[in-house]
Amino acid sequence: MKIAKMKMVSVLPLVAVSMALAGCGEEKAAQTGISPQVMADSLFAVMEADRTVYTRLIINRLQNDEKLIKASEHWQDDKALVLPAQMFRYGAERVAEKGAIFSYSLLSLWPVNKQNNPKTETEKAGLQFIADNPGKNYYGEEQLGGTRYFTAVYPDVAVAPACVKCHNDHPDTPRSDFKIGDVMGGVVVRIPLT
Ligand code: HEC
Repeated sequence: MKIAKMKMVSVLPLVAVSMALAGCGEEKAAQTGISPQVMADSLFAVMEADRTVYTRLIINRLQNDEKLIKASEHWQDDKALVLPAQMFRYGAERVAEKGAIFSYSLLSLWPVNKQNNPKTETEKAGLQFIADNPGKNYYGEEQLGGTRYFTAVYPDVAVAPACVKCHNDHPDTPRSDFKIGDVMGGVVVRIPLT
């Protein structure tokens, strides 16, 4: 029974796609596609979930609550846990290596690492918008190197005491008054529109 049900589910999207492609022309096919915003929102949902789980269950638990092992940007030398931001970047680099059509990064107007400053006008506008409008996302378009992109910027929020403590105490931080719940930066997701 169970197997039969699973088969039905996996076949349904194919039916929908082939119906759209068969009779109804391009317009119908386009209607069945997902919008760049839905795609970006879905990608971000996965990124945000992984990032929060890693920070709460690994960093906050093992470093701050149980004091078993520290997190350090020099994790190899220090035999420490990889920082949440490094975990995120290694994932983004792997996605880029695999040649995915989209790209993503974690940036901030108050970065510990200057490399994480916004570079494009849309990134700057997006980070400012999410800092000024807590709980809202920013959606824009930009032209980079001859390609038009849909660019979404999502708030990266201090979800655990470990986020706040480490950033406020970091020698390179330009800001040391972060509190739980503050927007500390943003995740930029970029999808080409061509
Ligand atoms: C143990 C220290 C530590 C913890 C815990 C930590 N961070 Fe960071 N964070 C850093 C360091 C160091 C960087 C720069 C890393 C890099 O780019 O190599 C960074 C990078 C970032 C960035 C990119 C901008 C910047 O500051 O360079 C954001 C945004 C950020 N962290 C937010 C958070 C949030 C939100 C949490 C909790 C979910 C968190 N951090 C937890 C140390 C920490």
